[in-house]
Amino acid sequence: MDWQNLAYAATQIVHNFGAVAVVGGAACALAWREAAVQRRLAWIVLIGWAIQAASGATFGAISFYHYGKFPDIHGIAVAALGVKMACAALGFTLAAWLLFAHPSSASSRHAWLALFVLGALALSSAAVLRWFS
Ligand code: HEM
Repeated sequence: MDWQNLAYAATQIVHNFGAVAVVGGAACALAWREAAVQRRLAWIVLIGWAIQAASGATFGAISFYHYGKFPDIHGIAVAALGVKMACAALGFTLAAWLLFAHPSSASSRHAWLALFVLGALALSSAAVLRWFS
């Protein structure tokens, strides 16, 4: 049993479900406007963004534990990782704003649209990071 591969695979499972939560949660909220549902979806999306940041950092931690350094990535891959981290920070903040600032219906619709775009951008950056690293 290769423990390093097992650790990466377990982290990737969590990371993949986090991606589903942030993108799928925002898509559902755009389609389903009922207040109680929107609040539950905002929690799912908030937790999803936190999970993405934590599991993303765990990838780096596993590499550091096994090799004593972080993966050697350059150029486009670093930019793609930066975009993902920025999306996670913005997405978390926006989901928290939806939950605690009690915005109007129009503002919340714009916020959900922005959350969906952030999720799609992060998902696209993941593909770039994967193939340019
Ligand atoms: C702080 C935020 C994040 C960090 C540090 C991070 C980091 C990483 C790392 C290191 C990998 C492995 C790359 C590889 O070697 O193949 C990865 C994969 C992946 N990430 Fe993230 N990530 C973050 C946020 C996100 C977000 C927000 C999404 C989606 C909404 C996402 C979706 C994915 C997907 C789908 C993969 C698998 C790519 C593939 O193998 O094809 N990540 N991420």
